[in-house]
Amino acid sequence: MKITSPAINDYISGLLPKGDRVLAEMEALARRKDFPIIGPIVGPFLRQLAIATGAGSVFEMGSGFGYSAYWFAGGMSDSGKIICTDGSEENRDRALAYLRRGGFDSMIDYRIGDALEIIKEFDGPFDIILNDIDKKGYPEAFDLAIPRLRRGGLFITDNVLWSGRILHKNPTAESKAILEFNGKLFGSKDVIASIIPIRDGLGIAVRV
Ligand SMILES: C[S@@+](CC[C@H](N)C(=O)[O-])C[C@H]1O[C@@H](n2cnc3c(N)ncnc32)[C@H](O)[C@@H]1O
Repeated sequence: MKITSPAINDYISGLLPKGDRVLAEMEALARRKDFPIIGPIVGPFLRQLAIATGAGSVFEMGSGFGYSAYWFAGGMSDSGKIICTDGSEENRDRALAYLRRGGFDSMIDYRIGDALEIIKEFDGPFDIILNDIDKKGYPEAFDLAIPRLRRGGLFITDNVLWSGRILHKNPTAESKAILEFNGKLFGSKDVIASIIPIRDGLGIAVRV
């Protein structure tokens, strides 16, 4: 199931400015490798959120080759810090090369390993935490991320509608984990949550 109608998606895509050559290259690589980046509709939204919250610190759970970090970085001042995490050294090397070309390398601390372990090394509080790891880790990601957010900070999660598969009668283990995660997100007294039905469903929670 497409969350946004393809025609509406195409319309929004057609409105997007196409100025940044590094982003265009990253999008081309994602298409070539069928790599799931947050994409050019969600990217500007991440940048807006970084600007609107005056974000100085971002923790990314699942950074891939740096596409989401690139969008965040462009909405932060030069003194801002983004901790990126991923299991792949190849992704890290690609990310650092792209982020350097954008002039963002001094802002990036890219760690290799399991984001669910790496985040435990940090107390925060972070202004923004992005959750984009393997779906079975989502419920634990919620438990680890929320205490590490400042009040007013944002917990942003990709794929919370999972192409509509969360509605299936016999959900897979991944869908079950997302269902559990969404239940936590909306059941928590520590955040105010929304799902923005763009791309694959973007969960936004503000720490209160
Ligand atoms: C969907 S991709 C998203 C990348 C990035 N957020 C973007 O939009 O450009 C998810 C990435 O998270 C990594 N990943 C998945 N589970 C992880 C975990 N538990 N810890 C660290 N990285 C993880 C994968 O290797 C993959 O590169």
